[in-house]
Amino acid sequence: MDILKYQSDFLSYLDSKKIIKEPKNLYEPIDYILQIGGKRIRPMLTLIASDIFSGDYEKAMPAALAVEVFHNFTLVHDDIMDDAPLRRGNETVHEKWDINTGILSGDAMLILAYQYFENYEPIVFQKLAKLFSKTALEVCDGQQLDVDFETRNDVTIHEYIKMITLKTSVLVAAALKMGAIVANASDEQAQHLYNYGLNLGIAFQLQDDYLDTYGNPETFGKQVGGDIIENKKTYLYLKAFEVANDADKEKLTVLYNKKQKNISEKIKTVSAIFSKNNIPKHTKQLIEYYTNKSFDSLVHLNISDAQKNGLRLFGENLMSRKV
Ligand code: IPE
Ligand code: IPE
Ligand code: MG
Ligand code: MG
Ligand code: MG
Repeated sequence: MDILKYQSDFLSYLDSKKIIKEPKNLYEPIDYILQIGGKRIRPMLTLIASDIFSGDYEKAMPAALAVEVFHNFTLVHDDIMDDAPLRRGNETVHEKWDINTGILSGDAMLILAYQYFENYEPIVFQKLAKLFSKTALEVCDGQQLDVDFETRNDVTIHEYIKMITLKTSVLVAAALKMGAIVANASDEQAQHLYNYGLNLGIAFQLQDDYLDTYGNPETFGKQVGGDIIENKKTYLYLKAFEVANDADKEKLTVLYNKKQKNISEKIKTVSAIFSKNNIPKHTKQLIEYYTNKSFDSLVHLNISDAQKNGLRLFGENLMSRKV
């Protein structure tokens, strides 16, 4: 499985689509967010899934584009909600333009994503649209929980896993299932691939949370410490709260309940508490747990060993990513 081939073919397809038209202030931000980079993990998964089940991935290009445009829509709105200044090493859309631009360009991207399904015949169209609507609503559920958790002090790790499953994993899983749908795989096979994606997506968001505190500011592309500034109840925070002594717990509670004037001091203190309590190690262990759990689904897939190894390698690479 040549992972990079899927990525470069997807990028060529994306380049061939003319997004910019009038009014410029609506479409330029869409082109901007789609062009400033990104790993393109979700569209790659759609193409891989289609290739695995049908030996063809050209047919899956519109579905892959729908998934990536939808993902980028969620990022534009997420950056407004998280008050994030940086995305992929560049200004976020609402910083470069303004919040209203981020809202409307984001809305247009959601519609555009749906429109790409019009490339498919009615039966496939209906299956894709149904999965997509379900997934998009779940992402909204997850995003609302993520925001609700900012002002709660009693969030459990169980609730956190549920929240990241909704805001992140379901889209990773759906990206795979869409490729299976386009390739006319059986519902049962498509579901096993979905389950692989669901656990991989949990590991992926855990890694995202880890990098938010421990990523290299030179290469990470987002504001390091953003989750700490926003009082996000990530696994790092929740695990620290579980294993730390009373003095550290007290410090965390105070830091996560006041509006901080000195942001860099808060990030320094919180990450020191995380490190002292071995949170990086705990987080890495949970990432490995969910990555391995995702591999359990591969047993049920009627595909070649080489293809299973390809999916395994994909998961392992995600685990060791730095951006
Ligand atoms: C960021 O997704 C948002 C999350 C769900 C963690 P990615 O890490 O896939 O972002 P890009 O598309 O590669 O920039
Ligand atoms: C992102 O979670 C989830 C969605 C965009 C739906 P984060 O808020 O952690 O993503 P980043 O870190 O900003 O990319
Ligand atoms: Mg964010
Ligand atoms: Mg967020
Ligand atoms: Mg994040």
